[in-house]
Amino acid sequence: MESVRFYLPTEVVSGPGCVRREVGRWALGKKALIVTGAQGAARSGALGDVTGALEAQGVAWARFDGVRANPDAEQVCAGAEMARREGCDFVVGIGGGSPLDAAKAIAWAAAEGVPRERFFRRLPEPGDAALPIVAVPLTCGTGSEVTPYAIITDHGARSKVNVSGPCLFPRVALLDARYLESLPQAVVADTALDALSHAIEGAYSPRATRFAEALALEAVRLIVPELVRLAHGGFVNLGQLQYAAAVAGMVIAQTGTGLVHAMGYPLTYHKGLPHGRANGVLLAGYLEFMERPCPALTERLLKAGGLADAEELQALVDAVLDAAGTTPEAPSEEELARFAREPLRLALVRKYRAMPSPEEVMDIYRTGF
Ligand SMILES: [Fe+2]
Repeated sequence: MESVRFYLPTEVVSGPGCVRREVGRWALGKKALIVTGAQGAARSGALGDVTGALEAQGVAWARFDGVRANPDAEQVCAGAEMARREGCDFVVGIGGGSPLDAAKAIAWAAAEGVPRERFFRRLPEPGDAALPIVAVPLTCGTGSEVTPYAIITDHGARSKVNVSGPCLFPRVALLDARYLESLPQAVVADTALDALSHAIEGAYSPRATRFAEALALEAVRLIVPELVRLAHGGFVNLGQLQYAAAVAGMVIAQTGTGLVHAMGYPLTYHKGLPHGRANGVLLAGYLEFMERPCPALTERLLKAGGLADAEELQALVDAVLDAAGTTPEAPSEEELARFAREPLRLALVRKYRAMPSPEEVMDIYRTGF
């Protein structure tokens, strides 16, 4: 067997009621900073479960609810400042990717005392510490609950920066699918597409091991049938999607993301497409591109999802977005050409197993719209 390494220090606990039932495992200090967005944490019932469980355990808490979509360094540093002011010794993130990523970055910035003006120049280094992190996901896509990454928007560079380090792995992830029941269909669709792209990009990564590929195929096997049900109005198993999103998160925790994410960031930054939707529209074109360098792996991925070819995947993504009423408007050729030149994309592209030409990058964009 090849020499492989698999590192995942996060304890994953799942099931209805796990937040209250397992509080003894995740109450990691004397005072928690609870990091949330504006509404989802309360609406889903997760915030009430977290505060109720902490109070029953005699643990104090403060809430930072200043996280918005695509969080930036201002939000992170405001949260870190609050953690220090309130004397919090652990962080509980509740939400989709934005609150979870912000919570992780806050835990690091608070422990290391990172000043705002040096935030993007002082990214996590080996040996850095973070306050212990607990993650309660409220969507079924990001996988942030099991990764060492926090994606933070850098307005100066007009893009996103991956703030990552081993200290950003959550200590505990708490998966309760009941929190997903209040999600709009568009959010379920977008985040499920994000999870699918994590699985597919991770499998194609040059850093993918047998462990990573096995998890990626498992995630594809579970996500595609749920996408079919989303497209055709059938009953969607949210627990299955939540589990699959965590499995896909375990894949990118090992491999990182790939070309689809790098190409999707400009669609989010300049066109406002939600992260998962931006990835979803690019997935089939990417799979088609990877078929040449990796024919056997492409076949395994398609087979896991019960798909005949990349065209069928594109038709499925189109149907999912159509059913959710979220089919994106196509950017102009000039815009796509500009996105294809984004410096971030070019920097990332060098790590990939196959290097697309600028025309091939354009083709992947065009296939999606
Ligand atoms: Fe993602």
